[in-house]
Amino acid sequence: FCEAGIGYGESTCGTAIPSSSSSSSKLLIKGGTVVNAHHQHLADVYVENGIIVTVQPNIMVEDDVYVIDATGKFVMPGGIDPHAHLAMDAVDIVTVDDFFSGQAAALAGGTTMHIDFVIPVNGNLTAGLEAYENKAKKSCMDYGFHMAVTKWDESVSRDMEIMVKEKGINSFKFFMTYKGFFMVNDELLLQGFKKCKSLGALAMVHAENGDAVDAGQQKMIELGITGPEGHPLSRPAALEGEATSRAIRLADFVNTPLYVVHVMSIDAMEEIAKARKSGQRVIGEPIASGLALDDSWLWHPDFVTAAKYLMSPPIRSKGHDKALQAALATGVLQLVGTDHCAWNSTQKTRGIDDFRKIPNGVNGIEERMHLVWDIMVESGQISVTDYVRLTSTECARIFNIYPRKGAILPGSDADIIILNPNSSFEISAKSHHSRSDTNVYEGRKGKGKIEVTISRGRVVWENNELKVTPGTGKYIEMPPYSYLFDGLDKKDAIYLNSLQAPVKRAKSTT
Ligand code: URP
Ligand code: ZN
Ligand code: ZN
Ligand code: ZN
Repeated sequence: FCEAGIGYGESTCGTAIPSSSSSSSKLLIKGGTVVNAHHQHLADVYVENGIIVTVQPNIMVEDDVYVIDATGKFVMPGGIDPHAHLAMDAVDIVTVDDFFSGQAAALAGGTTMHIDFVIPVNGNLTAGLEAYENKAKKSCMDYGFHMAVTKWDESVSRDMEIMVKEKGINSFKFFMTYKGFFMVNDELLLQGFKKCKSLGALAMVHAENGDAVDAGQQKMIELGITGPEGHPLSRPAALEGEATSRAIRLADFVNTPLYVVHVMSIDAMEEIAKARKSGQRVIGEPIASGLALDDSWLWHPDFVTAAKYLMSPPIRSKGHDKALQAALATGVLQLVGTDHCAWNSTQKTRGIDDFRKIPNGVNGIEERMHLVWDIMVESGQISVTDYVRLTSTECARIFNIYPRKGAILPGSDADIIILNPNSSFEISAKSHHSRSDTNVYEGRKGKGKIEVTISRGRVVWENNELKVTPGTGKYIEMPPYSYLFDGLDKKDAIYLNSLQAPVKRAKSTT
């Protein structure tokens, strides 16, 4: 097989690659199994200036090319994490991982791009973007932005247009919970969905019924349940299912695609399954913690241990994890994120007397690729090509940056990982690259080890060593009208046509 020419960029398809006199970085990955979402085969991968030039067997190169032997290993597109919060402020504290440490951790774990959520400043999108552009200046890997919408007025509507047309943002998230902070009501949800549709931007929801969560929290406090276990007890899966169903139905009413972030429960997953079965364009994103953990930790007698597992929607009871895995394996859910939002023990301890004050969030940006491999591939639930689709390619397609990202094809960015299926990994806060002093996967071992990470042609992770430089990460603009919008206008036209059918009524005689 020669895949040169299948990509969208220029490519060379000869067997001998001439060396040029420039000091550009040249790299050859030899002898591995190259895996894309659609296909895998034995081939070499030749990279120049951060771009994949050729993918074919037996590429010969001159001496100035750095050669990596990948015999017996999988050569795959770097992971893309669709959901992370780096340097996120929560009133008076900020997450411990910023755009440098969080991305360094990501690269050590085989993720080469992430998409972060810009949080508006007092509802103002432009001010929010400026703040995040500053936070991201220290980036050491490529990244993109989603934008949260937390209030509604003319300026927000106008700013959404600017974000899509000028700033490279093609997705907007609406929080259906966090009452008094970010929560939006149905009226705003409808306005926002309509605006998204008009711009070809993807609407995203954090789906939990915020009013009911608020009532549930008050009830727990009245009952004297103030510890971390009060968190899952106050916001059961039914509230996630209700909000997921409501968002899906409102998106259908507007006829716009919907992306449900952090699907944590069977309740939410079944709403997505039902909608997809009926033909609606709904994307469901489980996250590493939802696939790998259960909520028993939240009852741990040690506060700090329990509090580190607190996130929203909560990690659910045993059984939800396996159901989410099966949904991922069968196409009900489409891609895996992390919702990496890392706090340290001191920050978590803020809520020692009241679980409502514990900052929400868990780690995962460094662990996702290993966990998904171990849980999904090693268990035989998915193929290696599926693995690439769920961790990288589908994200690139949904956010309209494929095949620049999410593929090993000539012309694609050289974001590449090499995974050794015969090696193993072990997770610990002692060895991880996040700045958090804890890890929700502490002590977890599994098969499959990402031995090399290449970020736009630079070898940043090799021999368990990280070589990263602040400021080397690039902002990746994401254009509107992804494949999810193809043909939506036809459905609108058919609906409008159906309204024109005249209703024949007899004339009233009175
Ligand atoms: O607990 C979580 N998920 N923290 C991050 C913010 C969010 O809701 O995604
Ligand atoms: Zn091929
Ligand atoms: Zn959320
Ligand atoms: Zn999140």
